[in-house]
Amino acid sequence: MAKSPDSVLSCVDMDGEVLADAVLRYAFRQLLGNNGYVHVVNVPESFDHVAFLKQLGEFQPTSTGTLIGDVKPERGMDDVNHGQNRGALTPHTEGYEFQGLPPRYLALWCVTPPSGSGGETTMLDGNRILAELTEDERQHLRDTVYRWGSTEGLARHGVTPTAKHPVLEEHEGELVLRFSTNYLAVPEGDEPARRLIERGNALFAEQHIAVRYQPRDMVVWDNWRMLHSRNAFEDPARHLKRVQIAA
Ligand SMILES: [Fe+2]
Repeated sequence: MAKSPDSVLSCVDMDGEVLADAVLRYAFRQLLGNNGYVHVVNVPESFDHVAFLKQLGEFQPTSTGTLIGDVKPERGMDDVNHGQNRGALTPHTEGYEFQGLPPRYLALWCVTPPSGSGGETTMLDGNRILAELTEDERQHLRDTVYRWGSTEGLARHGVTPTAKHPVLEEHEGELVLRFSTNYLAVPEGDEPARRLIERGNALFAEQHIAVRYQPRDMVVWDNWRMLHSRNAFEDPARHLKRVQIAA
């Protein structure tokens, strides 16, 4: 069952006045830290998404070299698991297939919402999954180096990264969670990894948050903590902008 976002920040107050920049930024930081994500709504036309997001850190280019990406359906890609099509995605964290740290934050904002049903960005707090594992299982996921593949969609663009790293990693006192339903190679007999994926998907299906976009709405989440995915949609006009922000 999808839930409505409970970490929503409106750019206007109850009297319809646009919040002062400092107030908006403060509230945004609080919500992001507490809940792992923020859905920013009632965004005025004058709002500068890029300038707002730069406060969080350096933008990190994607595998195809883009800093500020367009998420739009590509022709001929509906048959593969790929961000740039209209299909549903499976739950994952971003950047598991690359060496080094995954992006700390991901942000999407809406240029054109899809008409009709579907197209929601969906998320789940990874801490809910980790809380279901035992301390021994979590330790195993820190100590074991796994192989991670990448999507057929990227492969069709000539990008086929693979990386080796654990599921859980500590970085400067913070925990980094990597998760991929399809591209974490679970070794034969590795119960903790099997349970992580199985429980992760079950909890995602039961408890995910679904963000439905209005024009200019923005969603930002902590990619070291949250899993994300997307519901399938029909409308080829759906258009989001996307940035990833480095650690
Ligand atoms: Fe993604």
